[in-house]
Order: sequence, then C-alpha cells, then structure tokens
Amino acid sequence: MTKLWGGRFQKSAESWVDEFGASIGFDQQLVMEDLEGSVAHVTMLGAQGILSTEDVEKILGGLAELNRLAEAGELEFSVANEDIHLNLEKMLTDIIGPVGGKLHTGRSRNDQVATDVHLFLKKRVVEVIDLIETFQKTIVDKAEQHIETIAPGYTHLQRAQPISFGHHLMAYFWMLERDKERFNDSMKRIDILPLGAGAMAGTTFPIDRLKSAEYLGFSKVYENSMDAVSDRDFIVEFLSNASLLMTHLSRFAEEIIIWSTDEFKFIELDDAFSTGSSIMPQKKNPDMAELIRGKTGRVYGNLMGLLTVLKGTPLTYNKDMQEDKEGMFDTVQTILGSLKIFEGMVRTMTVNTERLHKAVHSDFSNATELADYLATKGMPFREAHEVTGKLVFTCIQRGIYLLDLPLKDMKAESNLIEEDVYEVLRPEAAVRRRHSLGGTGFDQVRLQIEKAKECIVPKQF
Ligand code: ARG
Repeated sequence: MTKLWGGRFQKSAESWVDEFGASIGFDQQLVMEDLEGSVAHVTMLGAQGILSTEDVEKILGGLAELNRLAEAGELEFSVANEDIHLNLEKMLTDIIGPVGGKLHTGRSRNDQVATDVHLFLKKRVVEVIDLIETFQKTIVDKAEQHIETIAPGYTHLQRAQPISFGHHLMAYFWMLERDKERFNDSMKRIDILPLGAGAMAGTTFPIDRLKSAEYLGFSKVYENSMDAVSDRDFIVEFLSNASLLMTHLSRFAEEIIIWSTDEFKFIELDDAFSTGSSIMPQKKNPDMAELIRGKTGRVYGNLMGLLTVLKGTPLTYNKDMQEDKEGMFDTVQTILGSLKIFEGMVRTMTVNTERLHKAVHSDFSNATELADYLATKGMPFREAHEVTGKLVFTCIQRGIYLLDLPLKDMKAESNLIEEDVYEVLRPEAAVRRRHSLGGTGFDQVRLQIEKAKECIVPKQF
C-alpha cells in the first residue's frame, strides 16, 4: 500500500518495520481529539478563505461521518497507516475522495499530535480532579464519624501520642487537596494550543491561530512554533503530579494494609474490596490497597521514562516523542482507577473503635502528658522528661501502665505529682487538651473539617 507520504520513496518498508514505527496501536485513543482538531482546523481554513466553502463542507461532512463511526466503535485502524492522524486522513479520503487531502493544508502531524494530546489531557485532568474531590468527600464523612474515636498515633511506627482517628484520616484529605491544586494549576500549561505551528516553522498560508484556539476552547496559543511542537513539559508535569498523588495513595494504602492485619485489627475492609486465598481458607487479603501501592511504581516509571526520552532530543520534533503517549495513557488509567477503588474502599471499611480504644489504653502514649504536667507545675521540661522516663521504666518492670501506677510510687520520683494526674493521663483527656491550631483536639478536628468542606464543591454536601 502506498503511504500518504510515499512520493519520494522508491520502495516500501517491510511490514515488520512498519509495525515497529507505528503508533496506531495506542494513539487510537486520541481518535475523538484528532477529529475535534481537524474540525477546528478546516473551519478556520474556510473562515480565512484558504479553502472554498464547498470543500470545507465536504470535509466537515466526512469528519462528521468518521465521528459517527468512531462513536459506534466501527473504525478499523491499520498499522500500514502508521498513526491516528494518517489513519483518519486515509479514511476521510476514502469517504469523500481526493478533496479530503486538502484538510492537511497549513498543518503538520507535528502540531496535530501535540494538539491532540493537549485536548486529551484537558479532559482527563478534569476527571482526575473530580475523582479526587469525591474521595476527599468520603474521607471527610469518615473522619466526621470518628472525631472522638481515640487511636494511637505513631512516629517510627512506635506508639507516640493518642490522637483522634478522624484527625489521622484528615491528614490524607489535605494531601489530596494539594494534589488537586497542582492538577488545577497545571491546566494553565495544558490549555495552550500548538496548532498552526506546522512542522515547526509556521506556515505561509494566512491561517488564524487565535480562531482555531477559540473553536477548540483554548485560552492561549504557543508563542513560538518551535517550542509548540517540541514541548512535552505539560505531560511531564501531569506525570509528576500523578506520581505525587500516587505517593499519597500508596502511603494511605500501606496504612490500610497494616491496620487490617491481625496484629493491628484497627479496621476491617469490606468483602467487596478484599480477596481470598486459593489455599488458605481463612485469608482475607487487602489486594486492592496492595495493588495501588504497587501501581505507584509504574506511574513513577512513566515519569522517569518520559524525562529520559526528552533529555537528549534536539529541537524540534523527533520520533522519540511518539514515546510520550503510552506512559501517559497508562498513568491516566492507573490514577483514575486507583482513586475510584480507594474511595470505595474507605467508604465501606469498618473502623474497629473498641480495638482502637483498647490499644490506646495499653501503651505509654500518654507519657508526654505526664512530662507536660510536670512542666506546667514549674519543672524544666528536660527534667520532667527524665522523671517520666523513669516512671515508664518502673511500669515496664512491673508489667503495668502509667494509669495503674499508685500515687506514692509517682511521688517517689517527684513530689509535684498529685491525684489530678490520673485525669491528665487519660488518653481522651490527652487528645481533648491538644487544642493548638491544627492539633488533634476534638474542637480543632471539628474546625479542620469545617475548613475542609469549604474546599469541596458545596453542592456535594
Ligand atoms: N505518531 C507520531 C507521534 O505520535 C505523530 C507525529 C509524527 N510526525 C512525524 N513527523 N513523523 O509522535
């Protein structure tokens, strides 16, 4: 079959060579965007008098037919036509005849492909932001139910201080809020149109790039045609934002996995989000959380992959850039899927409040309370820390906790300790009293949740 660019060639490549160079296997995902871009381009060519109204109408008719076939899933792509752009152009001429060849006037696949990807990411990023927000709402709902659920807080994965379980969950809300902000901000750089840059130098035809931008809903056009066809920063940025989002999901997934173990048993995942073992009948595995943790690796890989593809490419377009797409498609699918699953997993999980209560009453996470108590009574904090440490050691030796230690034994270390210490040492009191701004005190968590709700589109509440 002759290629659409076959004029200067004396022989054709063998099919396995074509296969290696083709991108149609994956860039067919850009079919709708490619058609959109073509509609805008040919409309602009008509408005500028570059093509006759008659030609433009024929082309628009053909594009509409392709659109219909694409929606019905009836387009048959071929590797011999290399990529989505040439496939569609070939189909167009098959439908409307040689006039279809006029569509490519003043355009190159280089500005065309970049346009398609800008259009594609514009839509996908909106979906990502929507899903982040749905997940945030679920986190707020769960957190609200557990403002007064006391849980152990950790540093170094060692019991540190008692916290509100709602406070712990809300930490993820704010990570996601930053992710949302980053994706929103990246829109500025996705929302720039490369169309009209031609192969790289612009065109001699009297095109109107701003008109194309208006038709396609872009707020800006690239200022430099060479930058326009070479820029893949916006994809790198998307992959970077996706990587950070996955970092957050992966950390949360890790906690879900730990919390579901027999050792912790802080939560139980719903059956619908768990899997069994083919050999061990008792097992209920947190596969979905593990998969999200695992998939983080491929998203990082996609980011590193594209950065590496780009680092040595001279201006302007190089075929290397065809490698920008698979990692991007894969990342879109991965983050949309992960957000959806995670939302369902958190919405349906059961928090084992009794177990959390028990956990926090059988540890030394109230030790800071005792040190603060002594410091409040005038003892220098360093000394208070030392005294408390000694009392913790005494308890460990006796196999008891601070709340079980008789007052006379406490007094043996410091006379400043009075009967009221037992109220201070209660984990509930420890949490309640932490009312510094952003702290885990119940009132602060309530305040935080109010602020969080303001970050979510109001109609969702
Ligand atoms: N399939 C190509 C890509 O994805 C489209 C642009 C091809 N341009 C070219 N001059 N070969 O990058």
